[in-house]
Amino acid sequence: MSELKREIARRRTFGIISHPDAGKTTLTEKLLLFGGAIQEAGAVKSNKIKKTATSDFMEIERQRGISVATSVLSFEYRGKKINILDTPGHKDFAEDTYRTLTAVDSTIVVIDVAKGVEEQTEKLVKVCRLRDIPMIVFINKLDREGKDAFELLDEIEQKLGLKVVPLSFPVGMGQNFQGVYNIREEKLLVFEGGSKQKLGERKVFTDLDDPDLKNYIDAELLEELKENLELVREVYPPFDRELYLEGKLQPVFFGSALNNFGVQDLLDCFVDIAPPPRPKKADKRIVYPDEPQFTGFVFKIHANMDPKHRNRLAFVKVVSGIFERNKSYYHVRLDKKMKFSAPNMFFGSKKQVVDKAYPGDIVGLHDSGNFKIGDTLTEGEKLMFKGIPRFSPEHFRYINNEDPMKSKQLAKGIDQLMDEGVAQLFTLNLNNRKVIGTAGALQYDVIQYRLEHEYGAKCSYEPLQIWKAFWIHTSDPDSEEYKEFLRVKQKYLAKDKDGLPVFLADSPFSVQMVKNDFPSVELMEISERE
Ligand code: G4P
Repeated sequence: MSELKREIARRRTFGIISHPDAGKTTLTEKLLLFGGAIQEAGAVKSNKIKKTATSDFMEIERQRGISVATSVLSFEYRGKKINILDTPGHKDFAEDTYRTLTAVDSTIVVIDVAKGVEEQTEKLVKVCRLRDIPMIVFINKLDREGKDAFELLDEIEQKLGLKVVPLSFPVGMGQNFQGVYNIREEKLLVFEGGSKQKLGERKVFTDLDDPDLKNYIDAELLEELKENLELVREVYPPFDRELYLEGKLQPVFFGSALNNFGVQDLLDCFVDIAPPPRPKKADKRIVYPDEPQFTGFVFKIHANMDPKHRNRLAFVKVVSGIFERNKSYYHVRLDKKMKFSAPNMFFGSKKQVVDKAYPGDIVGLHDSGNFKIGDTLTEGEKLMFKGIPRFSPEHFRYINNEDPMKSKQLAKGIDQLMDEGVAQLFTLNLNNRKVIGTAGALQYDVIQYRLEHEYGAKCSYEPLQIWKAFWIHTSDPDSEEYKEFLRVKQKYLAKDKDGLPVFLADSPFSVQMVKNDFPSVELMEISERE
């Protein structure tokens, strides 16, 4: 096998998604412990944007600064190279997470056993489903009282639209949590508490009729487990890897990340079934990881807000071939050759300069403003990867220039911040006024601060009654119906930064009206189809 093929086969690049507080950070830490990338839990905590900081965006930015190092966490486990891409759980950074999902090959969805399916989980899973991303579900915090396992599985199917197959099953819960049965490997792991931060030996039974078992598990719970396993066999289909890989079936594990319980079962299964880097659609063709020529795309740009170190790091996912340091690559959008002398990769939470990177890997490239989200690098081929769509923002405000002498600086600043993906810019057709759309109100402070400190421009905002932005599609732009739509809805029409037509709806009702009155006009909450 060639070097390239071998390296592709052993890579697993994924993201963990969850509603804040479900246990994503804790689980990440435990996975790193298994990979030997860290020795003790606590190392990743700094990554987390604390709830208490939501009113203080500088504090959030400071923490985000720290999180550059945890943007990609890599470790080796059972001969596989695993890359975890950080997906901020904080709602205000939801766009970041959506974009990161374009660079993962699979995901693990963490659900809190007590809270069940929460809002942010629903949104993120929807994005994964749109892209048929393989998902494994981890139900966390079994050491706490929560919902009945079967009820929760039903809830996941109904609210998330998934087809689940439990591959493990809990024995008791909360105070009475006594273990997890690994259905895949047919073994029972006994929960004895303790040993939270380090890896430790666990008592394992492979025979549920082992007489010694009664010393560890209440007889009643054991009976219940046997019945539950029977029920699982009757109700759920057998696990089918092909269906999982197609995004049509999702295995479920139970455990407690905090207690490092059930995490290894999850990781072992993940390593066995999760896909290596997948082919990716580009505008002209599909690109396969084992093609010899390098291709990759930018899915995230991290700007350092510290004025003393105002550098940006563009995160590139290698799609095909081998990326090499100091080799000349082609920046397709700018039609320009570029070389990178100090590409970064990440091990654990350390950053280091690398000479080579393979499909599935993420390289961090120092950037002085050449990159924007979605940019493609190749060895010369003119192709653009598809699928870094934008989603409708949730907040909208007019942006005004407060210093007429600095309008150029303001325009440049807005342009660059939008390229980084901080927010989205819409220009109204009617009067050319500019509207900034964001995923969270916090971003307005960030933008204002950065425009002033990095570009010397001053802005103010004005409220605007918009509910959501919809990208407009029509099969026949010359039709009378479409022309009539443009005329009647003039006031609500705008262009996004790429010039795509957008309908700024003030309420769900006005969207319904368009649907009724102009059936050939399609309004989409997403800028691009796959
Ligand atoms: P997030 O990244 O998804 O936002 O969640 P995070 O891992 O930070 O976990 C949120 C809270 O839930 C943390 O408590 C964490 O300790 C706790 N937690 C995670 N997994 C488990 C589990 O299996 N069982 C129990 N009982 N708790 C769990 P915190 O008090 O908010 O933070 P900290 O003070 O412990 O850091």
